Amino acid sequence: MENFPIDKENIPVHIGIIMDGNGRWAKQQGKKRTVGHSEGLVSAKRIVKAASDLGVKYVTLYTFSTENWKRAEEEVSFLMRLISKHLKKEMDFYIQNGIRVVHTGDLAGLPDYLQNEIMSVVNETAAFEHTTVNLAINYGGRDEIIRAVRKWCDSHPEKCADEGTMLNEETLVEYMDQPSIPDPDLIIRSAGEKRLSNFLVWQCAYSELYFSEKLWPDWEADDLYDAIKSYQHRHRKYGA
Ligand code: IPE
Ligand code: IPE
Ligand code: MG
Repeated sequence: MENFPIDKENIPVHIGIIMDGNGRWAKQQGKKRTVGHSEGLVSAKRIVKAASDLGVKYVTLYTFSTENWKRAEEEVSFLMRLISKHLKKEMDFYIQNGIRVVHTGDLAGLPDYLQNEIMSVVNETAAFEHTTVNLAINYGGRDEIIRAVRKWCDSHPEKCADEGTMLNEETLVEYMDQPSIPDPDLIIRSAGEKRLSNFLVWQCAYSELYFSEKLWPDWEADDLYDAIKSYQHRHRKYGA
């Protein structure tokens, strides 16, 4: 794989990344899990920069799932603070690289200070057009679908019973968190697990999947390039 150059004409428009293995990385180093999470964010920045430089238009980063609340209180609160601090610290990085930040997930379920930090980065970067980084924080694919159905029902109570205008795939999509972001072409998962863990459950229908053994904090630009090269050798058929 490494011997092929990347085809600049066939860059995935949207890459979703399940950034897994922070805890195992820390364990390997004899450090606390929280150190792995800090390193994981450094890695995220590195990979976002590499993706943006290649011209990837959308990158969705699975940062905290609706199931991650099951973890130890100490780890969860560390993650909330870490994400908030990171957003504040990286404003210059987003501005310099023309990166627009958006959020997917249940914002209302996050601590107030993190909600505020997310909204301020989202607002301050709203005009940037080079790359969109979609942060999946308190995100669950099933939760997103349920929230979308509820939003649709709330805005069309009369249509729930009317067969002619009943909910269909195209309509529901408009009620998802980021309706204007196309479905991911490529979903990457680091750290060896071969599952989606509730990531972009609706949007992954025709995504190409790429699994890597490497732990997320060890990811370098070359690992992203390998994933993209693998994607470029796939034959997408969409059932046709
Ligand atoms: C991914 O790394 C980060 C989050 C889920 C927040 P993990 O914390 O899941 O790392 P492992 O899977 O325990 O190694
Ligand atoms: C998925 O990783 C969630 C994120 C990367 C944020 P997990 O580590 O939580 O997934 P499982 O528990 O291995 O399925
Ligand atoms: Mg994990």
